[in-house]
Amino acid sequence: MSGRIPREFIDELLVRVDIVDLIDSHVPLKKTGANYVARCPFHTEKTPSFSVNRRKQFFHCFGCGASGNAISFLMDFNHLNFVEAIEDLAAFVGLDVPRESAVSQPGQKQKKDDLSSLYQVMEDVAAFYVEQLRIDAQGKKAVDYLKVRGVSGQIARDFMLGYAPGEWTALAGRFNQALLLEAGLLVSNEGGQVYDRFRGRIMFPIRDRRARIVGFGGRVLDDSLPKYLNSPETSLFHKGREVYGLYELLKKNSKPERILIVEGYMDVIALAQFGINYTVAALGTAASQAHFDLLFRFSSELIFCFDGDKAGRQAAWRAMEPAFSSLRDGRLIRIMLLPQNQDPDSLIRLEGVDKFSERVRTATTLSDYFFGHFAEELNLSEMEGRAQLVGRAKPYLEKLPEGVFREMMFARLKQLSGFSALDVSTNATTLRPTKENNKRKEHDRRLSSARVAIALLIQNPGLAEIVEQREIDWRGLGFPGIDLFKSVLHMILDKKPANAAVLVESYRDAPEEKLVKALAFLDLLVPDEGMETVFCDALDRLLDQARKSSIDRLLAKAKVKGLDAQEKEVLRKMLANK
Ligand code: UTP
Ligand code: MN
Repeated sequence: MSGRIPREFIDELLVRVDIVDLIDSHVPLKKTGANYVARCPFHTEKTPSFSVNRRKQFFHCFGCGASGNAISFLMDFNHLNFVEAIEDLAAFVGLDVPRESAVSQPGQKQKKDDLSSLYQVMEDVAAFYVEQLRIDAQGKKAVDYLKVRGVSGQIARDFMLGYAPGEWTALAGRFNQALLLEAGLLVSNEGGQVYDRFRGRIMFPIRDRRARIVGFGGRVLDDSLPKYLNSPETSLFHKGREVYGLYELLKKNSKPERILIVEGYMDVIALAQFGINYTVAALGTAASQAHFDLLFRFSSELIFCFDGDKAGRQAAWRAMEPAFSSLRDGRLIRIMLLPQNQDPDSLIRLEGVDKFSERVRTATTLSDYFFGHFAEELNLSEMEGRAQLVGRAKPYLEKLPEGVFREMMFARLKQLSGFSALDVSTNATTLRPTKENNKRKEHDRRLSSARVAIALLIQNPGLAEIVEQREIDWRGLGFPGIDLFKSVLHMILDKKPANAAVLVESYRDAPEEKLVKALAFLDLLVPDEGMETVFCDALDRLLDQARKSSIDRLLAKAKVKGLDAQEKEVLRKMLANK
């Protein structure tokens, strides 16, 4: 929990584990040729396009593009963060996770103990709040309040609802003060006095995905303000990263077909009581990119619920902005606007579960909502309005990841605006063969030599030795992809990774990560015996082209401006090499 995990340990882990065994224990695999395949666990499909390669220690799905090593698999499959995945992987191969730290060993242990005692105090306090519902005289008032709001005893237990007594020091006298302070359960005033943050409130514990209580929300029993009070940001609690009800949801269904995102604690509770147990609430903050990414890990369909009034509609529009970059193919967002003066809690009690579920299933798709919003705001019967549409819609659509959905959204924009010259895709494949385009083709061809060389290098880190032995003089050389080639080469010589999976791990969160991962799984159809030859060929071709263009450049410069001493030497060497 504290202290860095040494890099060497992570590398060792990736060497020890066999990704085929690991994945097979989660998703049964079938052997076909060099790979093991299954139906992809990360998207819904009928025929298997999920493939695992033992030599590379890597998985890849040709359907949805998910890919990575054993660590990435556990992160994605079990919705874990990096450290959690390392811990689980270590357990899988039977190792303990060592920690390194700038502080001394005892200090480190101290910190780890602190964190677990912090979780423990949250758990103890939650249990205390639950107990108060029964014994405190005011607790009876709280139970009555819950009854009036129609909350069943069962649901109150499922969500561990409790009551914080209306005293200033109910907690302070019972639990460790330092821990309470750090957990955000006490407030200290300017005079240095400390008192309970939550008093006279119905308490909603907020759990993270691993069932640990990280914070609380508390509601008053009357009309006093603030109506809700939430835990502050603490070392356990980060509002932007958690949602209320996710743990309870996943406990009932680890692969929900859809997730409904509502505004309030009471909405989650009421819907769960009516059997709609796929609901979470953002914790009083607007949905963030982190929220979208988090929730899309568990389900490919998210439905956002908003008030139907003007403020609600505006909130809906703002909330959707960070959604666009998460909308890979296969993912779906819907917007559900509620009737005036209703929230999900009141609405489901009013019209029942069937009608409410129907609303969820037929909620507006983001695409309809998106274009509908502009149709409402702009006058599309006028050319000016249609031009504005292009100007306003395009920045959103440009955030969409490449794919069919993106293309279709642009097609719809073209159709609505009547502006067919819209520059849609980033890879313009259907251009006329112009001079510019020929240059591009030449560029692509050269890039593909580089691609082959880099991909082979990533997939077989041992090939770096061949490059070493060549003692290549890189001065003055350039080809598309050279930076990546050199980066991979240096990474291999530096880290000596045992296989592709270890190498790819070194690129986690680096700008090159995506590219390296893609190349790691690029199927070059090269048999093992031919690997070295193909690599040397590609490398030769690459160096040859690079030298030629360097020579051309230097000769041209020599004619116009002349060359300095170093350039002359480079040119001489290159000509000699040729
Ligand atoms: P609402 O006021 O819509 O809450 O706030 P609600 O859930 O319908 O409350 P009830 O039905 O009156 O009990 C929605 C959410 O906004 C946050 C809470 O997370 C709440 O559930 N909120 C609201 C606060 O954090 N503080 C507040 O003072 C009010
Ligand atoms: Mn409400």
